[in-house]
Amino acid sequence: METKITQLLDIEHPIIQGGMHYVGFAELAAAVSNAGGLGIITALTQGTPAKLEREIVKCKTLTNKPFGVNLTFLPSLDPPDYAGLVDVIIKQDVKVVETAGNNPQKWLPKLQENNIKVIHKCTSVRHALKAQEIGCDAVSVDGFECGGHPGEDDIPNFILLPRAADELTIPFVASGGMADGRSLVAALAFGAEGINLGTRFIATQEAPVHDNVKEALLAATELDTKLVMRPLRNTERVLSNAAAERLLEKEAALGENIKFQDIVPEVAGVYPKVMQEGQVDAGVWSCGMVAGLINDLPTVKGLIDKIMQQAELIIADRLSAAS
Ligand SMILES: Cc1cc2nc3c(=O)[nH]c(=O)nc-3n(C[C@H](O)[C@H](O)[C@H](O)COP(=O)(O)O)c2cc1C
Repeated sequence: METKITQLLDIEHPIIQGGMHYVGFAELAAAVSNAGGLGIITALTQGTPAKLEREIVKCKTLTNKPFGVNLTFLPSLDPPDYAGLVDVIIKQDVKVVETAGNNPQKWLPKLQENNIKVIHKCTSVRHALKAQEIGCDAVSVDGFECGGHPGEDDIPNFILLPRAADELTIPFVASGGMADGRSLVAALAFGAEGINLGTRFIATQEAPVHDNVKEALLAATELDTKLVMRPLRNTERVLSNAAAERLLEKEAALGENIKFQDIVPEVAGVYPKVMQEGQVDAGVWSCGMVAGLINDLPTVKGLIDKIMQQAELIIADRLSAAS
């Protein structure tokens, strides 16, 4: 299937694995790229330029296909060495950068002068238009159902994607709630050029996370996520667990006065404990409503092949029969 995204990124299938903290390591990124999609290493999980470089080099030993790096720009008192991370991405000839969080404008000229395509992840049409205006090559439009940070507008993809299609001239991929061939065909129908998946890729054989995390996703339904940190205007969709309940109780009790310090036990340093040690109740961790559509643990290639086969079947049979 050829779309503007497969052409832009030089990939076979219009399927991207979004950056995921403590999930987006070389093993997963390479598996996705080897299967014809675009795998993405998450830079902030590595933390330092030297560690990111090691992970990129490792990924290159596992695949000779294009892969990307996610750079998430967060407000921080002690920000990571973004300039150093960008230098390593350029030095290692990475082809694609997925940016997220704050405006990536500062880094665009340097990345693009070095032939790196930049996809910015946005949760609203106005941010997508801003990304287009500053010169991003594409955007990833993340609906309210997504795992991670859906923003504060709460617009689900049935509205957000056609709104994006009406406004944007650069290509975009649909993100949030994407699970299978039905998701891909629907995304194409809405005007997207492909799909970006997060949570679905965690429940795969190659995802380098503890089996407890995969089991938790298999057990979860679409009812099993919670929105936390809304009073801090840093809303995150996470899997329902004891830590999420505790955090929500604190939010209810403290109201507008809540501070980051109040929720440190639920949010700080959680990801290695959850993803690597399998302590799924150690704190809150991102998970999309798409968990309700996850019932198996395929290989990455099995998942991507099935998405493509199902999409092609829907287009050839169901849609052509309706026309
Ligand atoms: C466990 C987890 C960690 C994530 N970490 C990041 C991250 O560090 N940076 C980022 O830009 N997006 C992150 N995301 C968001 C994903 O890249 C993607 O946009 C989102 O998962 C799409 O929604 P879906 O889970 O419904 O597929 C994360 C998502 C999950 C589930």
